[in-house]
Amino acid sequence: MSLTTFEPVRHDSASTERAASSTSNGRPVKVTVPSLQQKKLLHQPISAVTAYDYASARIIDEAGLDLILVGDSLAMVMQGQPNTLAITLDEMLLYTRGVRRAVQRALLVADMPYGSYQVDDRDGVANALRFVKEAGAEAVKIEGGANRATLARRLTDAEIPVMAHIGLTPQSIHRMGGYRVQGKTLAAIDQLRHDALALQQAGCFAIVLEGMPRELATILTAELDIPTIGIGAGPDCDGQILVLHDMLSLTFSPPTKFVRRYADLGAAIREAVGAYKTDVEARSFPTEEESYHLPSGIRL
Ligand code: KIV
Repeated sequence: MSLTTFEPVRHDSASTERAASSTSNGRPVKVTVPSLQQKKLLHQPISAVTAYDYASARIIDEAGLDLILVGDSLAMVMQGQPNTLAITLDEMLLYTRGVRRAVQRALLVADMPYGSYQVDDRDGVANALRFVKEAGAEAVKIEGGANRATLARRLTDAEIPVMAHIGLTPQSIHRMGGYRVQGKTLAAIDQLRHDALALQQAGCFAIVLEGMPRELATILTAELDIPTIGIGAGPDCDGQILVLHDMLSLTFSPPTKFVRRYADLGAAIREAVGAYKTDVEARSFPTEEESYHLPSGIRL
C-alpha cells in the first residue's frame, strides 16, 4: 500500500437514518456525522476514546465505541513529550493512517496539531485536507473558540466535518499558565457560551468540552443543537471521551480527578514481561515444543 492511500471504510447505505448503536443484518452500522446528531436527538450517550495505533484502534472499534480520536495527546502518552505542542502534521498523519486501517465502524476523527491551523485559514484547510486524502480521517478536530469560527466554516465548506474543542485546550497551555479548569468566572462563562454558539453556527458537528465546571457543561449541552463530548466536564454532556492510556493506567503519574481507571495494563505488562524475563533467565523459554526442527533426513 502506498503511503498516500488508505483502506476504504465499508459504508452501510442506511446508516445515516439509524442511531449509531443499532445494527443491520447482524453487521455493525457505520457511525457517521449525521448518526451522532441523531444520537443527541434521541438522548443516546456517545462513547468516544483516543487511539493512536492499529492494534488498540481495532480492539476499540470491535468494542463498538462511536468515535475514535487520534488525539495530539499522543505526543505525551506515546512519545513522552511534556505537552502536545511539538507533534508535527506528518507525525499525526502517520499515526492516523495506522488507526484508519483498523477502524470500520466508529467515526474516525483526527486532531489537527498545534501550528497546522493557527497561521492562516488557507493552511488550515490544506492541512485538514491531508488528513482526509492521505490518512482517511472522516473529520478533524480543532481547538479554540469564536476565533476559529471562520476556519471552521471554511473547513465545512470544503466538506470536512469539524469537531470543535473549547474549555481547557491543551494547545493553549502557555496562555492558560498550565492545565487549568476553565470557565470559573462569569466573564469566562459568557465567553465560552459565545464560543460554543459561534462554532455551532460555523458548521461544527460536535464540540469537545474539556476541563470546565459541570454546571457550565450542562448549560452548553442544553443550549447547543450539536452533541457535546465531555472530558472533565461532568456527566451531563451528550457523550464522553477519555485518553486511552489514562483509562488503562498506561501513564506514569497519578490520574487527574476526572479519569476513571478501567484496567491496569501497566501492571499487566510489567507482570507479563517480568515472567518472560524469568523464563529466559531460567532457560525455560523456549521449550522443545516452541522450537522449529530440521526436516527428517537432514542431519548436521
Ligand atoms: O488530544 C486528545 O486526546 C484530546 C482529547 C483529550 C479530547 O484532545
